[in-house]
Amino acid sequence: MTLGAGRAGRPTLAVVGATGAVGTVMLQILSQHADIWGEIRLIASPRSAGRKLTVRGEQVEVVALSEEAFDGVQVAMFDVPDEVSAQWAPIAAAKGVVVVDNSGAFRMDPEVPLVVPEVNAHAARMRPRGIIANPNCTTLSMIVALGALHAEFGLRELVVSSYQAVSGAGRAGVETLRRQLAMVAGTELGTSPGDVRRAVGDDTGPFPEPVALNVVPWAGSLREDGWSSEEMKVRDECRKILGLSRLPVAVTCVRVPVVTTHSLTVHARFESEVTVDKAREILATAPGVVLFDNPAAGEFPTPADVVGTDPTWVGRVRRALDDPTALELFVCGDNLRKGSALNTAQIAELVAAEYR
Ligand SMILES: NC(=O)c1ccc[n+]([C@@H]2O[C@H](COP(=O)([O-])OP(=O)(O)OC[C@H]3O[C@@H](n4cnc5c(N)ncnc54)[C@H](OP(=O)(O)O)[C@@H]3O)[C@@H](O)[C@H]2O)c1
Repeated sequence: MTLGAGRAGRPTLAVVGATGAVGTVMLQILSQHADIWGEIRLIASPRSAGRKLTVRGEQVEVVALSEEAFDGVQVAMFDVPDEVSAQWAPIAAAKGVVVVDNSGAFRMDPEVPLVVPEVNAHAARMRPRGIIANPNCTTLSMIVALGALHAEFGLRELVVSSYQAVSGAGRAGVETLRRQLAMVAGTELGTSPGDVRRAVGDDTGPFPEPVALNVVPWAGSLREDGWSSEEMKVRDECRKILGLSRLPVAVTCVRVPVVTTHSLTVHARFESEVTVDKAREILATAPGVVLFDNPAAGEFPTPADVVGTDPTWVGRVRRALDDPTALELFVCGDNLRKGSALNTAQIAELVAAEYR
């Protein structure tokens, strides 16, 4: 690829997993953000080698993942499955590349910082393994708002339910919902037990149940005592990012028939009494947060409006009826933007600033 005018001397970036759900949004974000990179190298599996993708208005050929693909690279974003990151991120790091990893492979490694720039940007500088981890999309969909409230009030307990979009399960999740929607559209299905299941068939893609005309109280794999891996991730990651290693956290993760944008109800208990006015003031001024909360006018965030936007949107701000130290919130965040690609890009930009 030919470097654009003025790009010489800037750090070279590799996007590993450029063809995936997150990678696709990443290329859009890299095309929209300030052009701070020299070469942008696109990497995926050998299946995609030779494909051309557009980034910064230029066609770039995808190369297969290999050790040589990291030659001359300063920063690499990994948007690939856990096992691919687990194998290849240390190989890239051993070549001096700073890896920003979007998978779950390193998030709880004590030698890998887990970074949300609005909350703990300082942590990105301490990376003994040369790897920085990006949190899970469900954690990221609320943590910027929670971090701002924690800084003022001091978080003491968290109870969360998620309403997660199918793109959180990658391209396969989106394809499954669209296929099932086509099968049930224009029918009277959803009125007797099992009618939706019979219509969509046994292939429910990455989900254990039909997701069209349904809600599925499950995301991830089974962990101890009936908890799901997604629920454990939210708990562990919130604790690590906020530096609250013993924070009580209860999470229930639910999949809903939304393409992109996770929603969450949040019950957050703080050190002392809170007021809605103060909470609204904090949320209205916190970087990366939009307060959209006027139920009388029918104004609260929903995925249909939030999708494709960068901020964490917060509405339905109420003080708990039975506990003056607790707030109830409804939060929406695009799981492919702040929930993954945007946060990764922001971390990579923090690292790139070190090269100036
Ligand atoms: N979707 C979300 O909301 C979300 C949010 C946060 C984090 N994440 C994480 O981000 C990562 C990517 O997720 P996704 O949803 O974008 O998945 P996806 O749509 O399935 O895309 C996977 C990407 O990884 C590449 N890949 C797969 N196996 C590979 C291999 N052996 N060598 C090289 N490249 C390989 C694929 O390349 P080919 O096209 O060539 O197969 C593709 O570019 C996952 O770890 C996921 O958990 C996802």
